[in-house]
Amino acid sequence: MKKNIITFIGGGNMAHSLIGGLIQTGVVPENLRVADPTAQPLAAQHPINCYTDNIEAIQGAHVIVLAVKPQIMPEVTKALSVALSPPYPLFISIAAGIRLHDLNHWLGGDSKHKLSIVRVMPNTPALVQSGASALFASKHVNKTQHELAENILRAVGLTVWLEDETHMDIVTALSGSGPAYFFLIMEVLEKAAINLGLSQETARLLTLQTAFGSAKMALESQEDAASLRTKVTSKGGTTEQALQVLQQGGLQTLFDDALKAAQQRAIQLAEEFGAQ
Ligand SMILES: NC(=O)c1ccc[n+]([C@@H]2O[C@H](COP(=O)([O-])OP(=O)(O)OC[C@H]3O[C@@H](n4cnc5c(N)ncnc54)[C@H](OP(=O)(O)O)[C@@H]3O)[C@@H](O)[C@H]2O)c1
Repeated sequence: MKKNIITFIGGGNMAHSLIGGLIQTGVVPENLRVADPTAQPLAAQHPINCYTDNIEAIQGAHVIVLAVKPQIMPEVTKALSVALSPPYPLFISIAAGIRLHDLNHWLGGDSKHKLSIVRVMPNTPALVQSGASALFASKHVNKTQHELAENILRAVGLTVWLEDETHMDIVTALSGSGPAYFFLIMEVLEKAAINLGLSQETARLLTLQTAFGSAKMALESQEDAASLRTKVTSKGGTTEQALQVLQQGGLQTLFDDALKAAQQRAIQLAEEFGAQ
């Protein structure tokens, strides 16, 4: 990975985070480029190469990371397509809801131009190098490019590969939107403790550390969440009382419905973007 020239199209939050992560893993800043109408803040932080012209930025690049908003992806990729010639770079798209077929089409891929594209669904904790990214590769992505894409995304957290692109809509509902579910749970827990009499600062600190500690424990343990939960739930104890209230309130059904709603919206958005 260290010898590859990686160009980011779009130098916003996600590109910023990926660039920071890549430099931390030992990628030399000279091999990183970013094309953005206003990439100056990035340039001030890292000695990377900044461009305002996307076409100029992709010349000789081995990897092109498409990191613009989904709404402008058709326009940006169609403009890049005219400047592409063999050997084609590896494309990595981190845009939510943009399907591989559409990207390939906008970039000018056809039976003659076989493009290697990896579609990624990262999530917001990538901004603090603790993201969860699901990756799906087009059939022309070779083993080296698979490893390359994985190493780039690993710079901002955990990666998993998907075998079926339709699962991206489930990933969007789970880990893409997921940080908001956990923020909501933290918010309601904190509020409930304040309602019982704790100060806001105490409620906040205890809520956040409990969320962090539980996630750390679950990640480091070989046991699944259900068994960890059972272990901390003594018969006749306080936790059992609270869990009964949550389960009787239909928590599982609520999350089933919530994820289905998010998945449906992801499908709908992908269709809308694809129609452009
Ligand atoms: N942030 C997240 O947590 C997150 C999570 C999952 C997926 N994603 C995906 O990651 C992608 C980037 O998100 P982000 O949060 O980094 O967005 P962002 O901060 O808005 O970054 C996008 C950047 O692209 C620049 N840009 C606009 N038009 C451009 C063009 N024609 N050529 C090159 N650059 C252009 C924007 O500049 P201006 O601001 O000047 O327009 C902005 O700096 C999105 O597709 C999003 O779906 C983000």
